[in-house]
Amino acid sequence: MADTRESWQTRLGFILAAVGSAVGLGNIWRFPWMASENGGAAFLVVYLGIVLLVGVPGLLGEFVIGRRSKRNPVGALSSLSDSKGWSAFGHVFVVTAVLLLSFYSVVGGWILRYFGASFTGAYFGNPGAYFSSINYGFEAVAFHVLFLFLTAAIVGFGVKGGIERATKVMMPAIVVLLVGLAAWGLTLDGASAGLAFYLSPDLGYLQTHFLDILPAAAGQALFTLSLGAGTMVTYASYLGEDRSLPVDGTFIAGLNTLVGVLAGFVVFPILFALGSGAGQPGAGAVFVSLAGAFAALPYGQVVAVVFFGVVALAALSSSISMLEIPVSFLVDEYGVSRRKATVAFTGLFLVTGSVNALSAQVFGFVAGTLVNLLLTGGLAGFLLFTGWVLGTDAVAELRSGAGDLGQRLATPWLYAVGVVLPLFLVFTLLSSLLPLLGVQLGTGAVVALAVGVVVVCGVTLRRPQSVL
Ligand code: PFF
Repeated sequence: MADTRESWQTRLGFILAAVGSAVGLGNIWRFPWMASENGGAAFLVVYLGIVLLVGVPGLLGEFVIGRRSKRNPVGALSSLSDSKGWSAFGHVFVVTAVLLLSFYSVVGGWILRYFGASFTGAYFGNPGAYFSSINYGFEAVAFHVLFLFLTAAIVGFGVKGGIERATKVMMPAIVVLLVGLAAWGLTLDGASAGLAFYLSPDLGYLQTHFLDILPAAAGQALFTLSLGAGTMVTYASYLGEDRSLPVDGTFIAGLNTLVGVLAGFVVFPILFALGSGAGQPGAGAVFVSLAGAFAALPYGQVVAVVFFGVVALAALSSSISMLEIPVSFLVDEYGVSRRKATVAFTGLFLVTGSVNALSAQVFGFVAGTLVNLLLTGGLAGFLLFTGWVLGTDAVAELRSGAGDLGQRLATPWLYAVGVVLPLFLVFTLLSSLLPLLGVQLGTGAVVALAVGVVVVCGVTLRRPQSVL
């Protein structure tokens, strides 16, 4: 298997594909949704902190596992540990990927729909009502299917030429368009209320609601960086030893965050200028605000076509990375051909995606709470694995191709990924999972429980090369 395994064609290919995976609907659609429901600027502060302190080192953890094993997440955990338990745990990532793409392709369908409707200006009259009329139901199923087929075609026919090339044009185009829209949005009457909501954190709110914001901010930080599902493990598995993981990781996280923050500059001023305020449209925030903007802009229709076209490409370069996880799993572990694996999973997604396209409740739960939980737990698992199973081997892998920077960073990084970050992630996970299960505990008790979980994991997993 290893000898026939694909690898990135160009040195830049990996970066572009990983940026392509990271930059997507998470930045443009999910971020404004989550921020609008969790206190705006207060959310932004917590989110940015987590991207920097958890996201970047976490990304390196996934890279190390992928590049060292040269396998999909299930194969990676089992081959590097020689343990059935880890192999079983790896299957969680296949399930996560299935859940992710099941709702993501519904949103991708919305984008395709808006792309088409921009040619006729169908949503210009009443953006809010238009969104409510297309978001769930049989038409939503049809557009989800279309989006899914586009995703499957790219994954089935190979990623190299298409995506590697498309991303080069897409990334600059997205940034330019967002900057332009933000500049325009800021000139609107009422924009300053939107900016205040987005940029001046209410410290009182932050203090009193920190624990409510935390799971959503952590989930969003991981979602936007494509972490906790095994995408970055899979992409790094096609990577040679000569790349500097810290440099690539920082670049990917930086560019991705820039796009997310920019999207907020577009969405919030426009939402407030339109008079709908934050929080109202929920999962439709970005659609309603942008549609309103395009309706009002000179040449708005042209801008709309370009914008939704570019966002559709950004969504595709992320959705293929979701489909790549289960496909690489079947290819690596069961020797199934890439085409067959793609067809099999596409069949499954036709069903699971349709459920999301038909029910706002299912969609809201899967795309919000469930994804936050799975990504947080998933990354905790990867990092415990990096710190305790790989240990000093992870340090060696991180150093490979990383020169001086790798030397200096590697050991502190190992303590972070082996101990500090798992504690944080397990705490975050428990603080949203326990209430869902009907268990109400004080913060102190949740901290104690998180420490307990990490200590038990450390003691059970410990090997000679472990972090401690
Ligand atoms: N990072 C992607 C986005 O922001 O749209 C979504 C994503 C892709 C999440 C792949 C997780 C994943 F594994």
